[in-house]
Amino acid sequence: MAIIIKGSEIAKNIKQELKNEIDNILSNKNIIPGLATVLVGDDEASKVYVGAKEKMCRELGMRSERINLPADIPERELLVTIARLNEDPRIHGILVQLPLPPHIDETRILNAVVPVKDVDGFHPANLGKLMLGVPDFLPCTPQGIQELLIRAGIETDGAEVVVVGRSNIVGKPIANMLIQRQKKGANATVTVCHTGTRDLTFHTKRADILIVAAGRPKFITADMVKDGVVVIDVGVNRLETGLVGDVDFDSVKEKARAITPVPGGVGPMTIVMLMRNTVRAAKMHAGLPL
Ligand SMILES: NC(=O)c1ccc[n+]([C@@H]2O[C@H](COP(=O)([O-])OP(=O)(O)OC[C@H]3O[C@@H](n4cnc5c(N)ncnc54)[C@H](OP(=O)(O)O)[C@@H]3O)[C@@H](O)[C@H]2O)c1
Repeated sequence: MAIIIKGSEIAKNIKQELKNEIDNILSNKNIIPGLATVLVGDDEASKVYVGAKEKMCRELGMRSERINLPADIPERELLVTIARLNEDPRIHGILVQLPLPPHIDETRILNAVVPVKDVDGFHPANLGKLMLGVPDFLPCTPQGIQELLIRAGIETDGAEVVVVGRSNIVGKPIANMLIQRQKKGANATVTVCHTGTRDLTFHTKRADILIVAAGRPKFITADMVKDGVVVIDVGVNRLETGLVGDVDFDSVKEKARAITPVPGGVGPMTIVMLMRNTVRAAKMHAGLPL
């Protein structure tokens, strides 16, 4: 029977640590870390995500500025908004909620955010630094996964890690982070699987740590893992019966040594890592040690 890695509990602890840091920045430098969230259109799920980010800013005593723009806004006007936020000294982090409407070039928008305020960690400069092992801002979900592994006491040094999924926001960055040389939360041997992988089960069965970000409900079943595996389920799939992950939790937990639940696993970590990146950006701005 597996240990359940409770992301919601771990996230709560990190939140308290951040609160202390934010209080320190305010008393030492008179700076309040500020996050701007940009929402284009009125996609319901995006509204919920942005609302949750604003709420957490408030809870932590951070400044938050929300910018709502109509779905048909021309791309150049969105670029003007980002340029304004890039210049605003009260804003340390800028988050453009994805997905953007189809007439807007997502890459062009993400590249317009100045890298020192790119708290999502999606700018090529930040992804390049991640790959080189000198990161400034790690993308939030992979950073949350790494932190979960560290805080749950899961040894990555020398481990066989298998990642299912190669997206730019989860699969590719987490694989790159885990192959870095540092022994804490990295130094693993990593295999990345995707739809071109010939025999997925061959790989998943070899994993000491299996990270699944495929966007397929209950896709990983007990016959695909070995006894004693650690499973990190990134998937968030909305079914009529509720939220489920990419892993068939009930059967896999019988074989796993440890496993994250959905909800309450990776999800709560992602948003806290966004706050951590914003605090980091404010400290960089203030010239404080990181
Ligand atoms: N908890 C959080 O905070 C959080 C954050 C981000 C995402 N998510 C969730 O995580 C999941 C993945 O998100 P994403 O943005 O990384 O997804 P994505 O962009 O849709 O990518 C899915 C990846 O999984 C691979 N894949 C899909 N079906 C597969 C199969 N049958 N066999 C092998 N590989 C397969 C795809 O391969 P190809 O590249 O070959 O198509 C792709 O690389 C989603 O459920 C999403 O909602 C959660």
